Amino acid sequence: MTDLTRDFHVSVLLPQDYDGLRDALKAAGLPADDIDQPNREFFRFVTDDGGLLGYGGYEAYGAEGLLRSVVILEQFRGWGFGLQFLKVLEDLARFNGLARLWLLTTTAEAFFAKCGYAKAERGSAPAIIRATKEFTTLCPDSAVCMVKAL
Ligand SMILES: CC(C)(COP(=O)(O)OP(=O)(O)OC[C@H]1O[C@@H](n2cnc3c(N)ncnc32)[C@H](O)[C@@H]1OP(=O)(O)O)[C@@H](O)C(=O)NCCC(=O)NCCS
Repeated sequence: MTDLTRDFHVSVLLPQDYDGLRDALKAAGLPADDIDQPNREFFRFVTDDGGLLGYGGYEAYGAEGLLRSVVILEQFRGWGFGLQFLKVLEDLARFNGLARLWLLTTTAEAFFAKCGYAKAERGSAPAIIRATKEFTTLCPDSAVCMVKAL
């Protein structure tokens, strides 16, 4: 069993490990079919003894980013891991030159609001973000659009 008091870290997910990400996204009802397309960076969130806690990533288009695929494995939800993981993802995004993270969510608006994301009109996102698969085909019109300046 994973010891929840242990330290954890975030590592880059290599394409040969995308199967685990795909499974976790499908189990959570999140888009998974386009994860091997360009401009995407995915990360794995693990305890220091190797226990998997979750996945997440972003698409990068210059200074604009699309946060996506943030998922904590079901048995570890509600322990604060999502918040901690998101902070690291944001640091990585900023380090890699992103100035803003946009997202669409149908399930976790309150979670992202707690993390400093503000609701935005879908049409206020830059054209490059509105042209992403999540915006054009994968997320329903009813999904809430949010943004955070990094
Ligand atoms: C959303 C998710 C990543 C949050 O991870 P988590 O580890 O459970 O979240 P935390 O324990 O860090 O929660 C932080 C706070 O957000 C709240 N929260 C967590 N998930 C929430 C959700 N889905 N909706 C509303 N609030 C949520 C928690 O209650 C907590 O609030 P508190 O500080 O007042 O107690 C996780 O629930 C998940 O993987 N969900 C399925 C996939 C998903 O919907 N991802 C979002 C993609 S857009």
